[in-house]
Amino acid sequence: MKALLVEQLGKLESLALRDVPDPQVKPDRVVVNIEAAGVNFADISSSMGKYPGVKVPYIAGREFAGTVEGTGERVMGYTQMGAFAEKIAIPRAFIWPQPQGWTSVESAAFPVNFFTAYLVYWKAGLTADAFEPAAPSKSPRRALIHAVAGGVGTAAVQIGKLLGIETIGTSSSDEKLEKAKALGLTHGINYSHDDYQQRVMELTNGEGVDCVFEMLGGEHTKRSTRCTREFGRVILYGTATGERPEFDTLTMYSKSISVHGLWLSTLANNREVIAAAWIALKPWVEAGQLKPEVGHVMPMANASEAYKLMLNRKNYGKIILTV
Ligand SMILES: NC(=O)c1ccc[n+]([C@@H]2O[C@H](COP(=O)([O-])OP(=O)(O)OC[C@H]3O[C@@H](n4cnc5c(N)ncnc54)[C@H](OP(=O)(O)O)[C@@H]3O)[C@@H](O)[C@H]2O)c1
Repeated sequence: MKALLVEQLGKLESLALRDVPDPQVKPDRVVVNIEAAGVNFADISSSMGKYPGVKVPYIAGREFAGTVEGTGERVMGYTQMGAFAEKIAIPRAFIWPQPQGWTSVESAAFPVNFFTAYLVYWKAGLTADAFEPAAPSKSPRRALIHAVAGGVGTAAVQIGKLLGIETIGTSSSDEKLEKAKALGLTHGINYSHDDYQQRVMELTNGEGVDCVFEMLGGEHTKRSTRCTREFGRVILYGTATGERPEFDTLTMYSKSISVHGLWLSTLANNREVIAAAWIALKPWVEAGQLKPEVGHVMPMANASEAYKLMLNRKNYGKIILTV
């Protein structure tokens, strides 16, 4: 089969399809004929050698949609690697039925972004099945979502709206913010010309937000903490800047704010957590209240172009590669 085999780290421009052996059929796995796969920031970090546990050679790609060999079931799925290929062998626990009426392109945009966005709210204590419920509040619940116009960001806006949470999102582009507003984003902040810390305080009457989707790292971790209200939570789930998170412990003490980590790679192996998240998301999906924002569709052979689009912050919503 053809697959996007990463043989050397740090060479985005040399990503190309290669002939590799078909996946081995094992008793506990099904083989899925992949039709579409979602691009994630983690695919870039991995191929740059900046993601934990990556060893070359490996087949890139963390999420896919297609049909189960033998039964023809239309499914979408999550994996640690191997989605940028014509086929994958995968345990049933990591596939879900494609929602009624969705294409494989739409379905491949669901697993990573929607599970991550839901689990951030879950960790922040803002979902009905919360890990540890948020402290009571008389003010409306609010979330600050960095990279709001991206894959996780656009999922977080939609889920936030369904949870009754006011969403404040950051982006480098007014155009992307307008699209996110059409999805339900309450307030947009263009960080290219506005200071988001100051704007968040203005927009929340000086209170701050209940939770921050923090995926930037570096100074943004401490600045995000300063955007947070008493007892609020900063959920750290990425470091797009490539810099180590900096902490403002004084603000954390004085406002009883906590910083939590979240990594889908480890949570995905916790079947109870993922099953509970799917129970929460499925009725919204079936009612047509959640739908991935697919901004770009391109053939798998153009993966390096897709990676560059994301790295250069030019993507809106999800980038999908088709097989
Ligand atoms: N922990 C987990 O399990 C998990 C799961 C999924 C994703 N993530 C993390 O969530 C973040 C978003 O992932 P995604 O796949 O949904 O990507 P994405 O948001 O679709 O694309 C990345 C966006 O981040 C923004 N950005 C801000 N600073 C950036 C920088 N220094 N370099 C590049 N982009 C920057 C850009 O949007 P603007 O120009 O609009 O700011 C860019 O378009 C990533 O950090 C990723 O690692 C973590």
